[in-house]
Amino acid sequence: MNWRTAFAQKAPLWGLVAALAVLSLAIGLGWKAPAKPTLSAQASLGQLLFHDPSLSASGQLSCAGCHDPLHAHGPANDLPTQMGGPRLDQMGQRSTPSLRYLSFTPAFALDAQGKPSGGFFWDGRANSLHAQAMGPLLHPKEMANGSAAELVQRLSKGPHARRFEAVFGAQVWQQPQAALEAVALALAQYQIEDPQFHPFDSLFDSHLRGQAPLSPAQARGWALFKDPQKGNCAACHNADTAPDGRHPLFTDHSYDNLGVPRNPQLAHNRDPSTFDLGLCQRPDGSLRQRNDLCGAFKVPTLRNVAIKKVFFHNGQIKSLSEALHFYVERDTHPQRWYPTRPQGQVAVYNDLPARWHRHVNQNEAPYDRALGAAPALNEAEIQDLAAFLHTLTDGYRP
Ligand code: HEC
Ligand code: HEC
Repeated sequence: MNWRTAFAQKAPLWGLVAALAVLSLAIGLGWKAPAKPTLSAQASLGQLLFHDPSLSASGQLSCAGCHDPLHAHGPANDLPTQMGGPRLDQMGQRSTPSLRYLSFTPAFALDAQGKPSGGFFWDGRANSLHAQAMGPLLHPKEMANGSAAELVQRLSKGPHARRFEAVFGAQVWQQPQAALEAVALALAQYQIEDPQFHPFDSLFDSHLRGQAPLSPAQARGWALFKDPQKGNCAACHNADTAPDGRHPLFTDHSYDNLGVPRNPQLAHNRDPSTFDLGLCQRPDGSLRQRNDLCGAFKVPTLRNVAIKKVFFHNGQIKSLSEALHFYVERDTHPQRWYPTRPQGQVAVYNDLPARWHRHVNQNEAPYDRALGAAPALNEAEIQDLAAFLHTLTDGYRP
């Protein structure tokens, strides 16, 4: 037997000895199992850029400034819309969404019937997280870089210039547009890869895994959420586990017109002839002909909705309880939601020009109720529904 065959015969044993030696050394050095999967070079650069205020004209506003990781990547304050721009004195037009669970969003599409779905932003105008991320960097009321070249200037003087160069190559500085795309790519990759953006660790997720029971009130709320005659919430806020086992996202990525009341706090609403029409008013004009989509906005996920401080696209509704009451009382008791005109009529659907009122959803539960009728959910049922929605907050620890 030569040394080769001897070694080969004992190889499995040697392997085991070596592995045990490495393991005991590692334990001796205080090694612990990594808590998080490691991010790719692009994604970990994206993490740095996401938190870097030097990429904004004000020098004070990073992505995290509006999308705070401690608030489910939504705003920390209770302003209806966030402030941005070079002096942070520009009021945004729409409320700031949570960035959680977005990476499962399909691209925007119109089906054979012309029904829209997918896309990012309240009006689905960006097709991917990559395309989306360029928006806030250049938006004059957000991070307010005047051009790709201006952003590149800031980045090249900022704390992450060398890292950026290491990931994308030194030639990246030559082409401002390519550099902007690279920044957006890193930001998108961070949101896709980091499990913080989609932890699936709410009480409800534990419940689906059979690890935590719902309380009686939460269980009643869950039933109301799905019941087509009662809440009917799941009709849009999809509550099914996907065929691949992925837990529900609480959105079907569709669009709808809920007739949310106008928010008089918003700067652009000082002009009574100005309306935020959502889909049909997309800046690229692609849906200008689709009057039926005037007033339609994206169905958001309801994960982490209980920690939000302002609700719907214009931030007019200020609490979860108010949002739920709005759903069931909008048409039964409109005077509670819309201003009353001097002549005494209620200005229903007052955030839409009168000619588009017919596009407000009035057919489906819980909106299928006439003026003065009993709301689809009573007070106790609304509380149960709220109790259920509280189970959708990330970070549940038994
Ligand atoms: C000034 C506050 C502000 C800053 C800063 C900001 N955002 Fe946003 N973000 C918003 C608002 C408001 C919207 C919704 C705008 C709309 O729908 O028209 C939004 C939407 C988004 C969306 C789409 C959400 C959805 O539901 O489709 C993503 C993704 C996003 N932001 C990522 C980022 C990234 C990445 C950055 C940094 C480059 C950033 N944001 C910086 C306020 C901000
Ligand atoms: C026909 C589709 C549809 C149904 C049914 C529906 N929703 Fe919604 N939901 C939407 C759309 C669209 C929005 C965003 C509308 C906007 O901002 O203009 C929304 C927004 C919300 C918001 C605000 C979320 C945020 O991030 O600001 C809450 C809360 C909510 N829905 C809860 C519910 C509950 C609870 C039910 C059942 C009682 C329900 N929804 C039924 C389509 C629907």
